[in-house]
Formats: sequence, structure tokens, C-alpha cells
Amino acid sequence: MKVGIIGYGSMGKMLLWKFFRSGITGPGDLYAANRTQEKLEEARNAAVICSNSELARMSDIIFVCVRPSDMRTVLSDIGPHLKKDALLVTLNGSIPFALIKEVVNCRTAKVIPSVTAEIERSQTIVCYNDLVSNDDRQKLESLLSCIGEVIELPEKEAGMGSELVSCMPGFIASVFDVICSSAEEHTELPREQIIRMVLNTMSATGDLMLQKGLSFDEIVSRVATKGGITEEGTKVIYDKFPDTARELFDKTLAKREMTAQKAAELFGETQETAET
Ligand SMILES: NC(=O)c1ccc[n+]([C@@H]2O[C@H](COP(=O)([O-])OP(=O)(O)OC[C@H]3O[C@@H](n4cnc5c(N)ncnc54)[C@H](OP(=O)(O)O)[C@@H]3O)[C@@H](O)[C@H]2O)c1
Repeated sequence: MKVGIIGYGSMGKMLLWKFFRSGITGPGDLYAANRTQEKLEEARNAAVICSNSELARMSDIIFVCVRPSDMRTVLSDIGPHLKKDALLVTLNGSIPFALIKEVVNCRTAKVIPSVTAEIERSQTIVCYNDLVSNDDRQKLESLLSCIGEVIELPEKEAGMGSELVSCMPGFIASVFDVICSSAEEHTELPREQIIRMVLNTMSATGDLMLQKGLSFDEIVSRVATKGGITEEGTKVIYDKFPDTARELFDKTLAKREMTAQKAAELFGETQETAET
């Protein structure tokens, strides 16, 4: 199976090297194209460097890793050259299948990885349009398995899916940054040590819950005995934190909607069309 990657920026570079280094694509099966071709020199041993249209002619799966403002140009470039059964994969969560279809009507998937792909532990969101077959699903999901787990969602849930896996590392990091800063005010331990203790405990708590199938309640009740010290802390969190969490999702989901409208405009649509 030939795999093409268009756009050698943050996402395209990550995917290209993960596919190459994991050996999930065979030798000579990777194709890469980028607007500034010189940037691809470093990938010459990993992929066949070519133009967008050559890549479309050769590839069975094409990952389009460009910003929304460049998407229409790329789709117009490759549309006439795509193989009949090609699977087009966009990395942008904000451009709906309905808009893509106006330029290229083919089997299409959206893929939203998380930064944890770096250590092969991404929870990658995947959505498919109506033309995608089970065989396409299997091929794509087996490719993406080299960066972690794949979760298929309907397109309308891709926004919340992104919050939960793609934005979540940022939310988790900021919550624990606040906790570590507060701990620092109450101790003489150095910040690096506090962070290390908290991060390892956080990561182990997640693994413990996943491996033993434990719920949040079960962890809380195991640690927070009635009238004990932990309970004092968990009470504060259950009392004060829900408002913050609610505001977080109110704000990020509103921002997501605005971003989708902007992406649709950048894709070349009028504001009116984007809002319908
Ligand atoms: N970064 C993230 O964490 C993240 C996460 C999830 C999804 N995404 C989505 O993934 C997509 C790519 O994001 P990114 O962060 O990888 O962007 P990026 O770093 O800006 O890279 C975009 C790449 O696309 C290339 N490009 C632009 N127009 C092109 C064209 N006509 N033909 C070929 N290549 C072209 C650019 O080439 P030049 O070298 O000439 O500029 C650049 O290398 C975006 O839609 C973004 O929303 C990003």
C-alpha cells in the first residue's frame, strides 16, 4: 500500500517519520510533497519526494497535512489525479466533509492525533465520510496504530473528541501546573522534585485505573477515608472545580465553533455558507 503525505510541517513530519521508523509502510511505499520542496531533503532516505499531483497518482492513502487556508489549493491540485479507490485523509478537524466534497468527492477521512503520538500513545480521533469502506477503515487504522490507539467518532462528535484527546494534554498540564505551584507555596521541596512526584503519581494513577478497570469513585474512596486528610482535599475539588470545568468546555467549544467558521472562510467559502 502506497502512502502519500502532503505538507511537511509539524503534523506531516511527525506522521512521515512515525510511519517510516515503525516500518509499518514498506520500503519505497512512502511519498512526500511540500510547497517548499527543499525542506524535504532531510526525508529523502525515508520517502520518495514528488509534487502533489505525482503523489496523488501514486498513493492509495493521501494525508493532507496543510493549514485550512492551503487546503483548497491542495485538493484542487490532487483531485484530477487521485486513484479511483484512493482514501483522502485530512488532518484538519474544522473543515467538514461537505466542504471537501465540493472540491473532491472521494473516500475521505479526518484524523486528529494527540501530542502523545510522540511516545506512541496517541488517542487518535478518526471520522469517515459515507463513501469509506470497512477495508479502508482497516487500512487506515492499522497505519495509525503506530502512533497509538484509534477511536472512530461520527463527524458531529469530532469537536468534543478533539477536546478530550488533542486539547486534553494541555488541560492536564495546566491543572497540574496550578497544583504544583500551590504545593510549592507550602513546602521547601524544590519545584522539579514536586513536579516529578506529581507527574509520576498522575501517570501511575491513570495506568492503575485502566489496568484494573477502576472508576474515579473507587480511587477516591480508596484514598480518601471518611474524616481523613485526603477527604479534606477531594471535598474542595468536588465543591469548587465543577464551575471551572464547565467554563472550560463552554469557552473551548465556543472557540471551536468560531475556528470552524474561520476555517470554512479560509477554505474559500462565504461567511453565510459557513454558518448554515
Ligand atoms: N500542529 C498540531 O498540533 C495539529 C494537531 C492536530 C491537527 N492539526 C492540523 O493539521 C494541519 C497541519 O498543521 P501543521 O501544524 O502541521 O501545519 P504547518 O506546520 O504549518 O505545516 C503545513 C505544511 O503544509 C505545507 N503546504 C502548504 N501549502 C502547500 C501546498 N499547496 N502543497 C504542499 N504543501 C503545502 C507547508 O509548506 P511550506 O514549508 O512551504 O510552508 C507546511 O510544510 C492543519 O490543518 C492543522 O489544523 C495540527
